[in-house]
Amino acid sequence: MQRTLVLLKPDCVQRRLIGDVLSRFESKGLHIVAMKLLQVTPELSKQHYAEHVEKPFYSSLEEFITSAPVVAIALEGLEVIRVVRDMLGATNGLQAAPGTLRGDYSSSRQMNLVHASDSEESANRELDLYFNADEFCDYSLVL
Ligand code: CMP
Repeated sequence: MQRTLVLLKPDCVQRRLIGDVLSRFESKGLHIVAMKLLQVTPELSKQHYAEHVEKPFYSSLEEFITSAPVVAIALEGLEVIRVVRDMLGATNGLQAAPGTLRGDYSSSRQMNLVHASDSEESANRELDLYFNADEFCDYSLVL
């Protein structure tokens, strides 16, 4: 069983799409084990996007990711890191396939609705950035 960090980005929150996106993950059978609404600070943005800090688009990315709250979610499931990345589609909403979240809801490279960890190493690092150990709920689904 794997865990991954999903962020519903400011555009998702501003467009009132939280419910629609959560519903897609729930319908897929993924297990929400932690979730919160929070404001990303410039410091957290630099930690989260450490690999992009030197890139030309970083200042615009930081402005965007700190512009409104995000919803941080820890999802658990078999192969959940790959499954969620497949559900998101390509980074650029204009190139994301129809049926994916970005393909259905985004027409932007930056405002692409949802972030998800791309590897086990990133998932562990990103889950640690957004959640304390005592914020994860351990429960079994009975239905
Ligand atoms: P995400 O999956 O959160 O990972 C890094 C983010 O940077 C990405 O989604 C986009 O929001 C943003 N991004 C990636 N490439 C570019 C780019 N070329 N220009 C602007 N934003 C980008």
